[in-house]
Amino acid sequence: MSGKRQEGERTIRSYVLRQGRTTPSQHRALAVLSPRFGIPFSARPLDFAAVFGRTAPVVYEIGAGMGEVTAEIALARPELDYLAAEVHGPGVGSLLKKIDALALKNIRVVRHDAVEVLEHMIADGALAGLHLFFPDPWPKKRHHKRRLVQAPFAALAAQKLAPGGYLHAATDWPEYASQIDEVFSACRMFSPGAAGRRERPVTKFERRGLNLGHPVRDLLFLRRQE
Ligand SMILES: C[S@@+](CC[C@H](N)C(=O)[O-])C[C@H]1O[C@@H](n2cnc3c(N)ncnc32)[C@H](O)[C@@H]1O
Repeated sequence: MSGKRQEGERTIRSYVLRQGRTTPSQHRALAVLSPRFGIPFSARPLDFAAVFGRTAPVVYEIGAGMGEVTAEIALARPELDYLAAEVHGPGVGSLLKKIDALALKNIRVVRHDAVEVLEHMIADGALAGLHLFFPDPWPKKRHHKRRLVQAPFAALAAQKLAPGGYLHAATDWPEYASQIDEVFSACRMFSPGAAGRRERPVTKFERRGLNLGHPVRDLLFLRRQE
């Protein structure tokens, strides 16, 4: 799914909900820790100061997977707050466990479609950054419409980022990297950020891609000042 939908338009999502196995400890985390670190979906913008109990720049991560990198980044940057969206239950359970184990105060998790969260739960101009690490590449041509990064998504990201805010995407799928580059380059609200790899830990999906010999590309764009 990409960006805003018109009424009556068929919803094309960027994910298929895999059942996957939820381990007993992930189950427990979902039950016990969701009330502490989870935020239910709601169609109203969040008050970040109330959510995090302080005023700090907020970075939004789309598709946190199992959350290793989310937790590692939040641990390394305690001065920033992180909101992560993920639809996969075991992944959310795993991230909740990490937040608890590391006693992280600066992460909250929404188990819901990340584009709907971006549209409805995040006020315009409220984000300092947006992380999109290894979005599902949907390699088959007939599935390209499921790719998250398309023109309406870039427009939505521009709307939600503060001027000067950044979009950091990474993928091991060269043709999707080109698409991301083209889409954000074509959006007049973004300018290209510094070339090269921005600092971030290696993600689980990245490791898999590297093992398969896939080249990893990081893309960085900055929200223009208007
Ligand atoms: C290929 S995995 C990458 C996970 C993680 N970022 C990493 O690099 O290890 C993509 C993840 O995005 C999630 N995802 C895809 N579309 C989503 C959406 N619209 N909302 C929330 N999560 C989504 C999937 O469930 C999956 O966990």
